[in-house]
Amino acid sequence: MEAYERMFKWRANPFTFTIMPEVFVGYSKEMAGIISGFESGNKFSLVTGPTGSGKTTFLKAAMGKLNRSEHVMYLPKPPKVSSDWITVFNPVIKYGGRFRLPFGGKVSLYNLGEKLNSSLQNRRCILLIDECHEATTESLEWLRALSDHTDNLSIVLAALPVFEDTLKEKLETFMRRISSRAELSSLSKPETREFIKKRIEFMGGDDIRPFTSSTVEYIFDKTGGFPREILRLYNSLLQKSAESGITTIDIDFLEEAGSVAAQRLSADTISSLPQKQRAVLDILKGREMTTAEITSHTALDDYKNRDIALRSANNLLKRLMDEKMVERVRCGRTYKYRLSGGAQTLMVSA
Ligand SMILES: Nc1ncnc2c1ncn2[C@@H]1O[C@H](COP(=O)(O)OP(=O)(O)OP(=O)(O)O)[C@@H](O)[C@H]1O
Ligand SMILES: [Mg+2]
Repeated sequence: MEAYERMFKWRANPFTFTIMPEVFVGYSKEMAGIISGFESGNKFSLVTGPTGSGKTTFLKAAMGKLNRSEHVMYLPKPPKVSSDWITVFNPVIKYGGRFRLPFGGKVSLYNLGEKLNSSLQNRRCILLIDECHEATTESLEWLRALSDHTDNLSIVLAALPVFEDTLKEKLETFMRRISSRAELSSLSKPETREFIKKRIEFMGGDDIRPFTSSTVEYIFDKTGGFPREILRLYNSLLQKSAESGITTIDIDFLEEAGSVAAQRLSADTISSLPQKQRAVLDILKGREMTTAEITSHTALDDYKNRDIALRSANNLLKRLMDEKMVERVRCGRTYKYRLSGGAQTLMVSA
């Protein structure tokens, strides 16, 4: 048990990155839109948002709101190979029990829709698929075809915003079938407070203690209400408070901890940036990209050759990181860049 858990009598740290649909807050308009989408029998709904905005949590919370008589399945990732859709739908087919193959033989992608129809009867199947930006075009084409032939199937896809571009470029027919959308960005100030309070109370604490209203305000300003950033900041404050044995985390403590002194971003900072740096911020709005992806963007393609363009993009990114506008995250063997919590809010309101 961590020192602060003992200190505040918490069962566990309320601010870990664990997905806890029980403490889901905000995004109520988006949730209502997606739920009414299922209810009106929409085939496809799409939830997009940058990494850490809460897509996975949103899908899990949506699952909790569905009627138990429905067949609900969550996939952490879409299958890369199309034939894996058969495995995915296997539990539904068994569930129905009454099915007899019309022409005999094995279940294949070609008769799966028919098999699902006869298994589901009047029941509905709701499939929630996370991280759809990783799906292959072929696998998505099959899913589209399957949904065309299955009557009671509703599918919710969650993906990084870049998925919209993929759909536009390669999957026009798929895109046309998406009838409800939710774009997750960040929580409002009252929702950020609710976020803290619900987590602390869930772990056995009281309201927002040991934080104060002014701390919550400060954290909202600093993170722009971006869920994963909020968690990160609260965690580091908890660690610091435990090190110094402090039991109230107020503005005085933040000042002592040196957090408030940290540079604050303002809208002026963005408008005073050189044009190329601003272009990079625009490109990164709502996504994570590698230097190569950023370089290939048309707004930056006036360089003589790719090496010069890459070098120049690296310089721009370095300057933006120094300004705390952009941050770098490791992604497999490379790095990806994204807007910092602060820059994100400014770009949204700009
Ligand atoms: N609406 C919310 N209410 C409460 N907690 C949330 C909410 N949204 C996100 N969180 C918390 O913020 C963190 C990030 O959320 P989540 O993992 O769902 O984001 P994501 O968009 O799926 O990110 P990634 O693209 O990296 O998978 C999680 O720890 C989650 O518990
Ligand atoms: Mg996720």
